[in-house]
Amino acid sequence: MSILEIETYPAAVLKQKATAIENIDDSLRELADSMLETMYRAPGVGLAAPQVGRSIRLLVADPGSREEPEPMILVNPKIITAEGRTSMQEGCLSVPGFTAEVERYKQIVVQAWTLDEREVELELEDFPAILLQHELDHLEGILFIDRISRLKRNIYERKLKKGTLPED
Ligand code: NI
Repeated sequence: MSILEIETYPAAVLKQKATAIENIDDSLRELADSMLETMYRAPGVGLAAPQVGRSIRLLVADPGSREEPEPMILVNPKIITAEGRTSMQEGCLSVPGFTAEVERYKQIVVQAWTLDEREVELELEDFPAILLQHELDHLEGILFIDRISRLKRNIYERKLKKGTLPED
């Protein structure tokens, strides 16, 4: 395991649609472990492979708490059903120093593969559902700042240019 470097906006890899994974092997398991470690260290609650410079359909997330962690590692995840609307203040390790309210589905069902090659379906609601939608967006080359108003996006772009964003 190792701590990986996190790519930040406007890195090109964050805008690419990630490719499907065809083999679940030891190198993928090692990458997933390193991504989890990198996410916890940051600290963050989710990390998609493109954020560490790998344009493949792998993500890690933990919607749990420090006392009760719930680490997830998902290969080729996709949303199969989605309903309701909700929103929350979101941030992203690849967009440091900025948060914004983003509209998302309230409930989703995600189908994915695990590292031990099992196909799973996860029914998620509220925070875990929002978290996974954010991470799944990364696999499509979409950042949360692509889902906010042009006005708010401009505020972010101006701060980024002037270098006045907070360090975190
Ligand atoms: Ni993110």
